Amino acid sequence: MKSQSYYVCAVLFLNTLAGSSVSGSNILFFHAVSTASHRTAIWPLAEKLADSGHNVTYIFPVERKMGSHPKIEELTPSKMVPLVAEFVDFDINMRLNDKVDEWAYAVFSRSLEFCEAFYDSPEIQEWLARPGLHYDLVMLDILSECAYGLVYKFKAKHILFFPTSSPPFLFDGIGIVPETSSIPDVSSLYKPSEMNFMARVQNTIMTILWRFGYLYFFKDVVPIIEEKLDITNFPAITEFEKNTSLVLVNHHFVEDYPRSLPPMVVPFSGIGCNSKNSKTETSPLPKDISSFIGNSEDVIYVSFGSAVVVSSMPISLREEFFEAFKALPKIKFLWRWTGDIPSETPKNAMLLPWFPQRQILTHPKIRGFVTQGGRPSTHEALCYAVPLITIPMFADQDFNANRLESIGAAIQIDIKNMSSALLKASIEELIQNQQRKSRMVELSNMFKDHPIDPLENVLYWVEYVLRYDTSLLKPLGINQTWYQRRLLDVYAFISIVLLGVTGFVMFITVFIAKFALRLISARLHKRVKKE
Ligand SMILES: *[C@@H]1O[C@H](CO)[C@@H](O)[C@H](O)[C@H]1NC(C)=O
Ligand SMILES: *[C@@H]1O[C@H](CO)[C@@H](O)[C@H](O)[C@H]1NC(C)=O
Ligand SMILES: *[C@@H]1O[C@H](CO)[C@@H](O)[C@H](O)[C@H]1NC(C)=O
Repeated sequence: MKSQSYYVCAVLFLNTLAGSSVSGSNILFFHAVSTASHRTAIWPLAEKLADSGHNVTYIFPVERKMGSHPKIEELTPSKMVPLVAEFVDFDINMRLNDKVDEWAYAVFSRSLEFCEAFYDSPEIQEWLARPGLHYDLVMLDILSECAYGLVYKFKAKHILFFPTSSPPFLFDGIGIVPETSSIPDVSSLYKPSEMNFMARVQNTIMTILWRFGYLYFFKDVVPIIEEKLDITNFPAITEFEKNTSLVLVNHHFVEDYPRSLPPMVVPFSGIGCNSKNSKTETSPLPKDISSFIGNSEDVIYVSFGSAVVVSSMPISLREEFFEAFKALPKIKFLWRWTGDIPSETPKNAMLLPWFPQRQILTHPKIRGFVTQGGRPSTHEALCYAVPLITIPMFADQDFNANRLESIGAAIQIDIKNMSSALLKASIEELIQNQQRKSRMVELSNMFKDHPIDPLENVLYWVEYVLRYDTSLLKPLGINQTWYQRRLLDVYAFISIVLLGVTGFVMFITVFIAKFALRLISARLHKRVKKE
């Protein structure tokens, strides 16, 4: 603990020494298609940068915001807001009817539409028309290729940040090969224990297809940017990828996988898990919630996140939840529920459109968290050591749930397999099996045990980008083709040589055998003739 704080002090000191040249930079954050969770993931960094003397502008296409900061200027592109809101509302029936893949493909195709709406928004046009508008650094969320137009216009450096795990199309863009031999791809449903030959084949092919799909779709963002910003000969998306100064990924080896990442990729997971940073934790629960909990000993919190529309679930499925709650009358259930409150809601369940999640997860009576498995929620569960039941819906949630299940942090339920008996048994297991709680405490300690505070670390790296050119951090593979990076040409060459040698050896063998046969048969002939 002591050496840790010396280290932090040393870094902070060096930071102030070296940082003097970069404070007061103008930094722009940009979110494209995103849910509230994308903002939750990166917001502490925006605040930290503002507090460190930078001018921060924050573009986020969602109306309802969680928190604000006096020194951060926020822009809400009004034409983009309704499109994004309608798109990110995830209907549980898509999961029940196997339509999740369609949703994933639509993210790509709809991104172009969102991009047009962004540049067409009056707030954005007004902002772009400000005299002397200038940014040194642009921070881009996942699928924010649209904002390469801003990077170009401001001649700024740019950093990519991923509120999720590393997406499959990232790796090749920055010159590395995804480790699909052992780590399931984020888009795949394979569990880490299931990475057999066919899983490896599928994972490997999928990541290559994702990459080409990504390039295929996002080449069409170029004409949109050219038109909206009145630019000609806008560079290709791959040029911007190669010029990326740094990549921030929201993972930690506990909740993600131990990965081999180049120095240009900096994990920022855990920046929200910081006591200085969350004043809400110590504040008491709102009165209605605390009086509902009353003197019950156990509380279970249920939330499927900001994007999933729970109220659209079939009544039969809702009944399975309610039956499980009724069968556990001593437990109080808090369910984040948007839409009308069903009249059959059991007495021990409180349904509200919003709960102070951190305050609930730090409540002494909290025994478990039923979640869809989105990153910010699983981070908070790890931060406060709350055992999980995951019911994944879409995006990276299956991937997250598989990892959490494999390390003993969660019980996973397939929504198609949901029954009141299964849910009841899982909740009883969370509450009664003390090993589950102690494992979660252990994982939580590992998650929070850093040589340096993650927020200080990510601030350090962002300011590093402001101070230096980062080409020395980049993988050399950034200038290779996808097959060179995977050594496919080398293996092809080796295969051809081996085939050639084998063929040659076979040819010689046949030749010699034929020759020998001819010789023998000639001798036999002679002998027969003599006789
Ligand atoms: C940063 O913001 C402050 C206050 O709004 C302003 O006075 C200053 O000029 C800005 N710095 C730059 C470099 O634009
Ligand atoms: C990439 O960086 C190089 C070197 O700084 C610069 O010449 C080029 O214009 C940049 N390209 C893009 C697309 O930003
Ligand atoms: C479905 O639930 C049953 C128990 O109710 C369990 O045995 C089975 O493995 C589950 N199947 C899946 C795909 O999760």
